[in-house]
Amino acid sequence: MNRFENRVVLVTGGSRNTGLEIVDLFLREGARVFFCGTSEASVAAGAAELARRGRSGFRGIVCDVGKSADVAAMMDAIDAEAGRLDAVVSNAAHLGQGENPAPDVPEADFLEILNVNLGGTLRIVQEAARRFFLRQEPNPATGQRGAVVCIGSNTAHHVQRRHVSYCTSKGGLESLVQCLALDLGPRGVRVNLLEPGYIWTERWHDLPETVRRKRRANTLTGREATGGDVAAAAAFLLSDEARAFQGAVLKMDAGATVALYPAYAEDAVPLPAEWKGAEAFSGAVSLDANETNSH
Ligand SMILES: NC(=O)c1ccc[n+]([C@@H]2O[C@H](COP(=O)([O-])OP(=O)(O)OC[C@H]3O[C@@H](n4cnc5c(N)ncnc54)[C@H](OP(=O)(O)O)[C@@H]3O)[C@@H](O)[C@H]2O)c1
Repeated sequence: MNRFENRVVLVTGGSRNTGLEIVDLFLREGARVFFCGTSEASVAAGAAELARRGRSGFRGIVCDVGKSADVAAMMDAIDAEAGRLDAVVSNAAHLGQGENPAPDVPEADFLEILNVNLGGTLRIVQEAARRFFLRQEPNPATGQRGAVVCIGSNTAHHVQRRHVSYCTSKGGLESLVQCLALDLGPRGVRVNLLEPGYIWTERWHDLPETVRRKRRANTLTGREATGGDVAAAAAFLLSDEARAFQGAVLKMDAGATVALYPAYAEDAVPLPAEWKGAEAFSGAVSLDANETNSH
C-alpha cells in the first residue's frame, strides 16, 4: 500500500525498537519521515539500520522531547526541509525501568518521567498544530488537516508494581489525548491513543525463557506484539480510512487485561472434552499471586 505518498510524517523516538519499525512502515508506504532520538549516536544508529534495510526518504534529528527548545528546533528543521507536516506519532517515552516502590520514588524521577511522556506529547502536538496543522489546507479526501497517534500503554489502567511514574504518565495520556481531540478536532485535527501491552524489543534478547513464557501466557493470543504490529495500527489510525476515529483510546494488548481475575483466583471449570486440543497455552505457565503483573 502507498497510503502516505506525498505526506510528511514525524515519529518521535524513532531511533530503535518500536519507533524504528513505525518509521520503516511509513517509509514503505511512501511517506517522507522525520524521526528523533536523544543523541547523535542513537539517531545515527537508527539511520544506519534503516539504510541497511534499503530505506530512503528519512531524516533523523536529535531532539529531547522533554525540552521545549529542542522540540522547537526540530519543527524549524521540518519546516525548512519539508514545509509541511501531515501526521505525528508520539512514541518517545521514558520507560522508568528500575523504579522504586511507591514510598521511595524520588520526586525528581517522577517529574522527569511525566515531563518526557506527558509534557513531550503536549509540546510535540502543540508545535505541530500551531506551525503546520492549523495553517495547512485540508486534505480533500477527509476534510482534515492533520492527525496524531500517541503510543500509550495498557499500564494506564492495569498498573504495574514499582512503576509509579511510568504508569501515571500513561494514565495521564488518556486524558491528554481526549483533551487534545476535543480542542483540536473542530479545527480538523484528529488525535488518538494506541495502548499496546507486551511488545517485542531488543530487550527481549536478555530475558530468560521463563520470563518470556510468563509474559506470553499472560496474553490470550500466546504472543507479544511486534513493533510491526504497533506500526500497522498506528498507520491505520493516521490513514484517511480512519477519519472517523477521534479521541479514541485503543487497547492492543493481546487480551492481557481482559480478565477481571487472574487464573489462580478462579475456580477451575472443566473444559468439554472436545476442547482439550485447543488449550495450546492456557495454563502453560503456573502464575502465583506475586507474578501476575510482572513484566
Ligand atoms: N516495550 C513494550 O513492551 C511497551 C509496552 C507498552 C507500551 N510501550 C510504549 O511503546 C513506545 C515504544 O516503546 P519501546 O519499548 O520501543 O521504547 P524504547 O525501546 O525504550 O525506545 C524509546 C525511544 O524513545 C526515544 N526517547 C526516549 N526518551 C526520549 C526523549 N526524552 N526525547 C526524545 N526521544 C526519546 C529513544 O531514543 P534513544 O534511542 O536516543 O534513547 C528511543 O528511540 C513507548 O511509548 C512505550 O511506552 C512499550
